[in-house]
Amino acid sequence: MRLHRISAHINYIGVNDRTTERFETLWPLPHGVSYNSYLVTGSDKTAIIDGVEVSHALQQIDAIKSVLGDRNPDYLIINHMEPDHSGAIRILRQAFPELTIVGNVQTLAMVKGFYGVADNFLTVKDGDTLSLGDVTLRFALTPMVHWPETMMTYFEEEKTLLSGDAFGCFGALNGAVVDKDMDTTPYFPEMIRYYSNIVGKYGQFVQRAMAKLKDITVETICSTHGPVWQAELSRVIDLYDRLSRYEPLDRGVTIVYGSMYGNTERMVEATADALVEAGVRNISVHNAAKSDLSYILADLFTHAGVIFASPTYSDSVFPPVAAALDAAVLRGLKNREVAVIGEFTWAPMAAKKIGAAIEASEMNLISDPITAKHAPDADILDKCRALATALAEKIKA
Ligand SMILES: Cc1cc2nc3c(=O)[nH]c(=O)nc-3n(C[C@H](O)[C@H](O)[C@H](O)COP(=O)(O)O)c2cc1C
Ligand SMILES: [Fe+2]
Ligand SMILES: [Fe+2]
Repeated sequence: MRLHRISAHINYIGVNDRTTERFETLWPLPHGVSYNSYLVTGSDKTAIIDGVEVSHALQQIDAIKSVLGDRNPDYLIINHMEPDHSGAIRILRQAFPELTIVGNVQTLAMVKGFYGVADNFLTVKDGDTLSLGDVTLRFALTPMVHWPETMMTYFEEEKTLLSGDAFGCFGALNGAVVDKDMDTTPYFPEMIRYYSNIVGKYGQFVQRAMAKLKDITVETICSTHGPVWQAELSRVIDLYDRLSRYEPLDRGVTIVYGSMYGNTERMVEATADALVEAGVRNISVHNAAKSDLSYILADLFTHAGVIFASPTYSDSVFPPVAAALDAAVLRGLKNREVAVIGEFTWAPMAAKKIGAAIEASEMNLISDPITAKHAPDADILDKCRALATALAEKIKA
């Protein structure tokens, strides 16, 4: 059982999931994921903040009992209703029938709709407080970080923000729970992947939430996934701030390509060589038919430059390249300099369609796409190199 004392009033009662292959059945979990839950114990009342995924319900109940002994938890505060945090609600209610569920008006509708639970519900509004005796919890509604009902809970006396999915990351907790007790290095790439995959579309809402929190002092962040942040708090806030402003994290380039017979790939290799010659150091090359979309998105959110390269396939973009392009556009990716390369045999549709999609998006197409018919000749490869050099200049500027 995972049980860690975070402070005089907060115990960690979350769980690790090292079994699920893909989060939301989509996003790979090579290092697992944690569903964090916290038990806040006040002098009069106690509150569970955020739940766990349903198959881990009994583990959480054991943890609650071992902290509270004969005492029952009074409240279950739901910051976020996605089932990775709410799936165990019915089981918790069976274990603790007196449990009052706390959420906003949207949470209430979802708890009812998903789990058929509607009684003993305390509806809170933005700015409301709940006293547990010597503990004051204040609620801040932060819609669309990452569902409409999302809120955060601020524990005033301990300056602790229970932030829901915000500031979370993939990666199970390998023993330690608080950042100062572990090497956090592996969690940062997992934070970029988590953000770009799950939260990426909602940058403006994350920004809104961060503006709202600007005036409160935060010394600890307890999110629903990954380490509790104390020592590296400012690094984590800064990373979420930059990601949600769609600010590139470096001056690198992500190349996303597809190639069935190697023609497009030859053009890609020429651009990668030229990028290096032009001084670019962080280059991620993804064969979209093989790389998982999850990692492509993480790199798209990291680097300032992008090259999409695709053969024409059934009058359109090669499907895995189209999927990556769609995913970037869907997330509203901006502040990116983009170059496009296409390949065809009878109708140059790939370059045309990618170019049009970039122009309609908030990314910047640096020049007309380069298109090769049949195998790329020396002239086309030179054009690819020149395009890469122009892209390198753009992202340096
Ligand atoms: C299944 C399939 C569908 C294709 N559809 C088109 C097409 O609609 N228009 C076109 O000009 N070329 C089409 N092509 C030809 C490819 O664009 C051409 O073979 C190209 O050189 C492949 O690039 P690659 O070597 O990078 O895979 C198609 C090829 C395949 C195998
Ligand atoms: Fe979520
Ligand atoms: Fe979550």
